[in-house]
Amino acid sequence: MSNILVGVTGGIACYKTAYLVREFVKSGHNVKVMMTKQAEKFVGYTTFEALSQNEVLRDDYTPTPISHIDYASWADICIIAPATANIIGKINAGITDNELLSTVIALSCPLVLAPAMNTNMYHNPIVQENINALKKKGIHIIDAESGLLACQTTGEGKMAEPNDIAEKVLSILNNKEHKKDNILNSENNLLQGLNILITAGPTKEYIDPVRYITNKSSGKMGYALAEEAYKMGANVTLISGEVGIISPLQDIQYVVSAEDMYNTFLKYFPQADIIIMAAAVADYTPNKMENNKIKKKSDTMELSLVKTKDILLYAGENKQNNQVLVGFAAETDNIEEYAKSKLMKKNADIIAANDVSRKDIGFDSSDNEVTLYFKNGEKRNTGKQSKIDIAKIILTESAILYNENQSE
Ligand code: CTP
Repeated sequence: MSNILVGVTGGIACYKTAYLVREFVKSGHNVKVMMTKQAEKFVGYTTFEALSQNEVLRDDYTPTPISHIDYASWADICIIAPATANIIGKINAGITDNELLSTVIALSCPLVLAPAMNTNMYHNPIVQENINALKKKGIHIIDAESGLLACQTTGEGKMAEPNDIAEKVLSILNNKEHKKDNILNSENNLLQGLNILITAGPTKEYIDPVRYITNKSSGKMGYALAEEAYKMGANVTLISGEVGIISPLQDIQYVVSAEDMYNTFLKYFPQADIIIMAAAVADYTPNKMENNKIKKKSDTMELSLVKTKDILLYAGENKQNNQVLVGFAAETDNIEEYAKSKLMKKNADIIAANDVSRKDIGFDSSDNEVTLYFKNGEKRNTGKQSKIDIAKIILTESAILYNENQSE
């Protein structure tokens, strides 16, 4: 039995959503409904309260002051039916100017949209662009069908039938659970035969032969990932900055600077199935390294720095559809916002974000706590655990994505 959140937006097809809710309840699921003001013009909220046996979240009534968060975290899946051109555009733009949209943005479960509108609206390139952009973000779209529309024209734009929508929503739910079960049952050889490429540790950007710029990083998270991946059966290549870790791994490519890391990465990237970028790569490097030790002459000194290659960005821009790309976001503030923006900007499949301002985790510690942000909007917090256990979670989630990509 799952928790299904049904969003209703303003279109004549709202009446069909009543059947959809009944369908879910009949098959034993918990259902909650949220409606926009426009939707209430078509069907009263009492119909949905009676069918779902739960309070309906509306702009004029929110059961608690933070209902959008409560409803979003309660849901195992969310279906918006009908989804109007307006709501599709707003979701794609990240607009949250009503309760339903605020809830959608707060979801950490799969989101499904069943568009319904007039044929010209549906075929409008703006609407199609929004639909395609949402698909790329991992949002499921149940295509509208052809038929007689409320405006008395015939064409594409009719919402799919409630039983077809219910079937699709339940299959997304079951598929996800089923795949997870299968994969988790095969635990130890989860990554059998896969090529896993991992970056770890800091880079050093030399100013002169004795001085360098670096990032704070022990390399422990990257090494834990590499060693756990090896135990799970993967062929592991670890590209490591200079760290004081002795590892039993066979294939460690040691590098010093961001440029070395990038060049080594290019060699292994094409054949990698899963790529995890845990290195703390310097973002800037000295314009030029002095051959001799710089002598102190004046009271101040200026260093000219140039940007390094962003390896994760390169990987995101050049990856094949079947490659899974995981990045890290070590942040001190606005963690969720930065993590989500890195996910999009760098075209990663997962961003593992952690709060490096906390003294009890991260950097030199053996423990960590990360939140994984997935491309499809889902997120998962690991809680505070050893870096080894966190590595296992990240590898398992990557393996699930890898398997999903293969079967698509
Ligand atoms: N990364 C990378 N190459 C770089 C910089 C970062 O591959 N030149 C990777 C890191 O390994 C990590 C992710 O990008 O997986 C995020 O690194 P981070 O330093 O947090 O972010 P930046 O992209 O540098 O962004 P900002 O400095 O603005 O936070």
